[in-house]
Amino acid sequence: METGRILDRRHPLGVFDSGLGGLSVLREIRLMMPAEDVLYYADNAFCPYGLRDPREIRERTVLISRLLLEQGAKAIVVACNTASAMAIEHLREIFPGIAFVGLEPAVKPAVKLTRSRRVGVLATPRTVAGERLRWLIETHANGVEVRTVAATGLVELVEAGVLSGEAVTEALGPLLDPMLEAGVDVIVLGCTHYPFLRAEIEAYVGSDVAVIDSGVAIARRTLAVLSRFDLDREHQAAGWLRLMTSDDAETVGPIARMLMTEDASMESVPVDVVVAVADRR
Ligand code: DGL
Repeated sequence: METGRILDRRHPLGVFDSGLGGLSVLREIRLMMPAEDVLYYADNAFCPYGLRDPREIRERTVLISRLLLEQGAKAIVVACNTASAMAIEHLREIFPGIAFVGLEPAVKPAVKLTRSRRVGVLATPRTVAGERLRWLIETHANGVEVRTVAATGLVELVEAGVLSGEAVTEALGPLLDPMLEAGVDVIVLGCTHYPFLRAEIEAYVGSDVAVIDSGVAIARRTLAVLSRFDLDREHQAAGWLRLMTSDDAETVGPIARMLMTEDASMESVPVDVVVAVADRR
Protein backbone atom coordinates (compact mmCIF):
# COMPACT_ATOMS: atom_id res chain seq x y z
CA MET A 1 0.00 0.00 0.00
CA GLU A 2 1.40 3.39 -0.96
CA THR A 3 -0.05 6.52 0.61
CA GLY A 4 0.73 10.13 1.46
CA ARG A 5 0.72 11.94 -1.86
CA ILE A 6 -0.34 15.57 -2.12
CA LEU A 7 -2.67 16.10 -5.04
CA ASP A 8 -2.99 19.40 -6.81
CA ARG A 9 -5.15 20.48 -9.76
CA ARG A 10 -2.03 21.94 -11.44
CA HIS A 11 -0.52 18.45 -11.67
CA PRO A 12 -0.80 16.40 -14.86
CA LEU A 13 -3.23 13.59 -15.57
CA GLY A 14 -1.66 10.15 -16.09
CA VAL A 15 -2.91 7.92 -18.91
CA PHE A 16 -1.56 4.52 -19.91
CA ASP A 17 -2.17 1.54 -22.17
CA SER A 18 -0.32 -1.58 -23.27
CA GLY A 19 0.70 0.47 -26.29
CA LEU A 20 -0.71 3.06 -28.65
CA GLY A 21 -4.39 2.08 -28.37
CA GLY A 22 -4.91 4.43 -25.44
CA LEU A 23 -4.18 7.31 -27.82
CA SER A 24 -7.78 6.86 -29.00
CA VAL A 25 -8.87 7.68 -25.43
CA LEU A 26 -6.28 10.44 -25.11
CA ARG A 27 -7.78 12.11 -28.21
CA GLU A 28 -11.17 12.38 -26.46
CA ILE A 29 -9.55 13.59 -23.23
CA ARG A 30 -7.66 16.32 -25.11
CA LEU A 31 -10.87 17.42 -26.83
CA MET A 32 -12.90 17.53 -23.63
CA MET A 33 -10.17 18.83 -21.27
CA PRO A 34 -7.70 20.80 -23.42
CA ALA A 35 -6.23 22.62 -20.42
CA GLU A 36 -5.04 19.44 -18.70
CA ASP A 37 -1.35 18.53 -18.88
CA VAL A 38 -1.05 14.82 -19.69
CA LEU A 39 1.57 12.12 -19.14
CA TYR A 40 0.93 9.18 -21.49
CA TYR A 41 2.73 5.88 -21.01
CA ALA A 42 2.68 3.21 -23.73
CA ASP A 43 3.93 -0.18 -22.56
CA ASN A 44 4.93 -1.20 -26.09
CA ALA A 45 7.69 -3.54 -24.93
CA PHE A 46 5.02 -5.69 -23.27
CA CYS A 47 2.24 -5.25 -25.85
CA PRO A 48 -0.10 -7.03 -26.43
CA TYR A 49 -1.47 -7.46 -22.91
CA GLY A 50 -4.34 -9.47 -24.36
CA LEU A 51 -2.24 -12.62 -24.47
CA ARG A 52 -0.36 -12.14 -21.19
CA ASP A 53 -0.82 -13.69 -17.79
CA PRO A 54 -3.10 -11.58 -15.51
CA ARG A 55 -0.40 -11.45 -12.82
CA GLU A 56 2.10 -10.03 -15.25
CA ILE A 57 -0.44 -7.43 -16.39
CA ARG A 58 -1.00 -6.43 -12.77
CA GLU A 59 2.74 -6.10 -12.19
CA ARG A 60 3.21 -3.92 -15.24
CA THR A 61 0.30 -1.66 -14.29
CA VAL A 62 1.70 -1.16 -10.77
CA LEU A 63 5.10 -0.17 -12.15
CA ILE A 64 3.60 2.20 -14.69
CA SER A 65 1.24 3.77 -12.16
CA ARG A 66 4.11 4.29 -9.74
CA LEU A 67 6.14 6.01 -12.45
CA LEU A 68 3.23 8.28 -13.38
CA LEU A 69 2.64 9.15 -9.72
CA GLU A 70 6.34 9.87 -9.20
CA GLN A 71 6.07 12.27 -12.11
CA GLY A 72 3.23 14.02 -10.31
CA ALA A 73 0.08 12.46 -11.79
CA LYS A 74 -3.01 13.61 -9.87
CA ALA A 75 -5.21 10.79 -11.22
CA ILE A 76 -4.70 7.90 -13.63
CA VAL A 77 -6.78 6.78 -16.59
CA VAL A 78 -6.26 3.11 -17.41
CA ALA A 79 -6.89 3.55 -21.15
CA CYS A 80 -6.95 -0.18 -21.76
CA ASN A 81 -9.90 -2.57 -21.38
CA THR A 82 -7.62 -5.52 -20.70
CA ALA A 83 -5.62 -3.80 -17.95
CA SER A 84 -8.79 -2.36 -16.42
CA ALA A 85 -10.39 -5.80 -16.28
CA MET A 86 -7.30 -7.50 -14.87
CA ALA A 87 -5.81 -4.86 -12.60
CA ILE A 88 -7.92 -1.89 -11.59
CA GLU A 89 -9.03 -3.24 -8.21
CA HIS A 90 -5.43 -4.18 -7.48
CA LEU A 91 -4.24 -0.67 -8.37
CA ARG A 92 -6.86 0.91 -6.09
CA GLU A 93 -5.62 -1.29 -3.25
CA ILE A 94 -1.94 -0.52 -3.84
CA PHE A 95 -2.48 3.23 -4.29
CA PRO A 96 -5.38 4.21 -2.00
CA GLY A 97 -6.40 7.84 -2.29
CA ILE A 98 -5.54 7.95 -6.00
CA ALA A 99 -8.42 8.10 -8.46
CA PHE A 100 -8.09 5.42 -11.15
CA VAL A 101 -10.52 5.70 -14.04
CA GLY A 102 -10.99 2.38 -15.81
CA LEU A 103 -12.48 1.30 -19.07
CA GLU A 104 -15.02 -1.36 -19.95
CA PRO A 105 -16.58 -2.42 -23.25
CA ALA A 106 -19.66 -0.32 -24.05
CA VAL A 107 -22.15 -3.15 -23.44
CA LYS A 108 -24.72 -0.93 -21.71
CA PRO A 109 -25.03 1.62 -24.57
CA ALA A 110 -25.04 -1.22 -27.11
CA VAL A 111 -27.97 -2.92 -25.38
CA LYS A 112 -29.88 0.38 -25.48
CA LEU A 113 -29.07 0.92 -29.16
CA THR A 114 -29.81 -2.47 -30.71
CA ARG A 115 -33.04 -3.06 -32.59
CA SER A 116 -32.27 -6.64 -33.65
CA ARG A 117 -31.57 -7.45 -29.97
CA ARG A 118 -28.24 -8.93 -31.01
CA VAL A 119 -24.97 -7.25 -30.14
CA GLY A 120 -21.34 -8.19 -30.83
CA VAL A 121 -18.36 -7.37 -28.61
CA LEU A 122 -14.89 -7.44 -30.12
CA ALA A 123 -12.15 -7.53 -27.48
CA THR A 124 -8.81 -9.08 -26.61
CA PRO A 125 -8.69 -12.76 -25.54
CA ARG A 126 -7.95 -11.68 -21.94
CA THR A 127 -10.91 -9.30 -21.80
CA VAL A 128 -13.25 -11.86 -23.36
CA ALA A 129 -12.17 -14.56 -20.90
CA GLY A 130 -12.35 -12.21 -17.91
CA GLU A 131 -14.91 -12.11 -15.12
CA ARG A 132 -15.61 -8.42 -15.63
CA LEU A 133 -17.06 -8.76 -19.13
CA ARG A 134 -19.08 -11.82 -18.09
CA TRP A 135 -20.51 -9.83 -15.18
CA LEU A 136 -21.24 -6.81 -17.41
CA ILE A 137 -23.18 -8.98 -19.84
CA GLU A 138 -25.05 -10.91 -17.14
CA THR A 139 -26.03 -7.68 -15.40
CA HIS A 140 -26.86 -5.47 -18.36
CA ALA A 141 -27.83 -7.63 -21.35
CA ASN A 142 -31.47 -7.42 -20.40
CA GLY A 143 -32.45 -10.30 -22.71
CA VAL A 144 -30.30 -9.05 -25.58
CA GLU A 145 -28.01 -11.70 -27.10
CA VAL A 146 -24.39 -10.55 -26.65
CA ARG A 147 -21.79 -12.42 -28.72
CA THR A 148 -18.20 -11.92 -27.67
CA VAL A 149 -15.35 -12.46 -30.11
CA ALA A 150 -11.75 -12.80 -28.91
CA ALA A 151 -9.72 -10.92 -31.49
CA THR A 152 -6.10 -11.66 -32.21
CA GLY A 153 -3.96 -9.76 -34.68
CA LEU A 154 -5.75 -6.39 -34.66
CA VAL A 155 -3.65 -4.84 -31.88
CA GLU A 156 -0.46 -5.83 -33.71
CA LEU A 157 -1.70 -4.16 -36.90
CA VAL A 158 -2.39 -0.87 -35.12
CA GLU A 159 0.95 -1.03 -33.31
CA ALA A 160 2.62 -1.42 -36.71
CA GLY A 161 0.67 1.57 -38.07
CA VAL A 162 -1.27 -0.61 -40.52
CA LEU A 163 -4.79 0.82 -40.44
CA SER A 164 -6.16 -0.17 -43.83
CA GLY A 165 -5.58 -2.44 -46.81
CA GLU A 166 -5.59 -6.15 -47.43
CA ALA A 167 -3.97 -7.21 -44.15
CA VAL A 168 -6.67 -5.42 -42.17
CA THR A 169 -9.55 -6.81 -44.27
CA GLU A 170 -8.11 -10.31 -43.97
CA ALA A 171 -7.84 -9.99 -40.20
CA LEU A 172 -11.36 -8.53 -39.85
CA GLY A 173 -13.20 -11.12 -41.98
CA PRO A 174 -13.08 -14.10 -39.59
CA LEU A 175 -13.92 -11.86 -36.63
CA LEU A 176 -16.81 -9.93 -38.12
CA ASP A 177 -18.44 -12.52 -40.42
CA PRO A 178 -19.84 -14.66 -37.57
CA MET A 179 -21.30 -11.55 -35.94
CA LEU A 180 -22.94 -10.44 -39.18
CA GLU A 181 -24.28 -13.95 -39.82
CA ALA A 182 -25.78 -13.91 -36.32
CA GLY A 183 -27.61 -10.65 -37.16
CA VAL A 184 -25.94 -8.21 -34.81
CA ASP A 185 -26.73 -4.56 -35.53
CA VAL A 186 -24.31 -3.06 -32.98
CA ILE A 187 -20.63 -3.90 -32.63
CA VAL A 188 -18.76 -2.80 -29.52
CA LEU A 189 -15.05 -2.05 -29.93
CA GLY A 190 -13.89 -3.47 -26.60
CA CYS A 191 -10.22 -2.59 -26.98
CA THR A 192 -8.78 0.91 -27.27
CA HIS A 193 -6.69 -0.05 -30.28
CA TYR A 194 -9.73 -0.84 -32.42
CA PRO A 195 -11.07 2.72 -32.93
CA PHE A 196 -8.02 3.23 -35.16
CA LEU A 197 -9.50 0.55 -37.44
CA ARG A 198 -13.00 2.02 -37.25
CA ALA A 199 -13.13 3.17 -40.89
CA GLU A 200 -12.27 -0.32 -42.12
CA ILE A 201 -14.63 -2.01 -39.68
CA GLU A 202 -17.50 0.29 -40.68
CA ALA A 203 -16.81 -0.26 -44.35
CA TYR A 204 -16.77 -4.03 -43.79
CA VAL A 205 -20.03 -4.26 -41.81
CA GLY A 206 -21.98 -1.63 -43.76
CA SER A 207 -24.17 1.22 -42.62
CA ASP A 208 -26.89 -0.94 -41.00
CA VAL A 209 -24.52 -1.90 -38.21
CA ALA A 210 -23.49 0.69 -35.59
CA VAL A 211 -19.89 0.56 -34.36
CA ILE A 212 -19.37 2.05 -30.90
CA ASP A 213 -16.54 2.46 -28.39
CA SER A 214 -16.00 3.90 -24.90
CA GLY A 215 -13.67 6.84 -25.70
CA VAL A 216 -16.06 9.74 -25.14
CA ALA A 217 -17.66 8.08 -22.11
CA ILE A 218 -14.27 7.60 -20.45
CA ALA A 219 -13.29 11.23 -21.10
CA ARG A 220 -16.58 12.35 -19.55
CA ARG A 221 -16.02 10.09 -16.56
CA THR A 222 -12.47 11.41 -16.13
CA LEU A 223 -13.74 14.99 -16.11
CA ALA A 224 -16.41 14.07 -13.55
CA VAL A 225 -13.84 12.37 -11.30
CA LEU A 226 -11.42 15.31 -11.50
CA SER A 227 -14.20 17.81 -10.70
CA ARG A 228 -15.44 15.70 -7.78
CA PHE A 229 -12.01 15.91 -6.14
CA ASP A 230 -11.43 19.57 -7.19
CA LEU A 231 -8.57 18.42 -9.41
CA ASP A 232 -9.76 19.75 -12.77
CA ARG A 233 -7.88 22.63 -14.37
CA GLU A 234 -9.87 25.76 -14.91
CA HIS A 235 -7.57 27.96 -16.97
CA GLN A 236 -7.89 28.00 -20.74
CA ALA A 237 -4.27 27.55 -21.87
CA ALA A 238 -3.53 24.39 -23.83
CA GLY A 239 -2.00 21.70 -21.63
CA TRP A 240 1.26 19.98 -22.52
CA LEU A 241 1.60 16.32 -23.45
CA ARG A 242 4.49 14.02 -22.57
CA LEU A 243 4.61 10.66 -24.38
CA MET A 244 6.66 7.80 -22.95
CA THR A 245 7.24 4.24 -24.09
CA SER A 246 8.87 1.17 -22.56
CA ASP A 247 10.18 0.34 -26.05
CA ASP A 248 12.38 2.15 -28.54
CA ALA A 249 11.07 5.70 -28.97
CA GLU A 250 12.66 6.00 -32.42
CA THR A 251 10.45 3.16 -33.66
CA VAL A 252 7.27 3.87 -31.70
CA GLY A 253 7.29 7.69 -31.95
CA PRO A 254 6.53 7.99 -35.68
CA ILE A 255 3.62 5.55 -35.41
CA ALA A 256 2.24 7.42 -32.40
CA ARG A 257 2.43 10.68 -34.37
CA MET A 258 0.61 9.05 -37.27
CA LEU A 259 -2.23 8.04 -34.93
CA MET A 260 -2.49 11.45 -33.28
CA THR A 261 -3.94 14.77 -34.31
CA GLU A 262 -1.36 16.76 -32.34
CA ASP A 263 2.38 16.74 -32.56
CA ALA A 264 4.35 15.36 -29.61
CA SER A 265 7.69 13.68 -29.30
CA MET A 266 8.16 10.37 -27.54
CA GLU A 267 10.88 9.24 -25.15
CA SER A 268 11.95 5.81 -23.90
CA VAL A 269 11.35 5.39 -20.17
CA PRO A 270 11.63 1.72 -19.21
CA VAL A 271 9.99 0.57 -15.98
CA ASP A 272 11.51 -2.83 -15.33
CA VAL A 273 12.20 -2.68 -11.62
CA VAL A 274 11.38 -5.90 -9.79
CA VAL A 275 7.99 -5.58 -8.15
CA ALA A 276 8.04 -5.52 -4.35
CA VAL A 277 6.83 -8.72 -2.71
CA ALA A 278 3.80 -6.92 -1.22
CA ASP A 279 2.61 -6.03 -4.73
CA ARG A 280 2.56 -9.63 -5.90
CA ARG A 281 -0.88 -11.07 -5.41
N1 DGL B 1 -5.63 -1.56 -25.85
C1 DGL B 1 -5.88 -2.61 -24.96
C2 DGL B 1 -7.31 -2.82 -24.61
O1 DGL B 1 -8.07 -1.89 -24.61
C3 DGL B 1 -5.03 -3.82 -24.93
C4 DGL B 1 -4.57 -4.42 -26.18
C5 DGL B 1 -3.54 -5.47 -25.89
O2 DGL B 1 -2.45 -5.09 -25.46
O3 DGL B 1 -3.82 -6.66 -26.07
O4 DGL B 1 -7.71 -3.92 -24.28
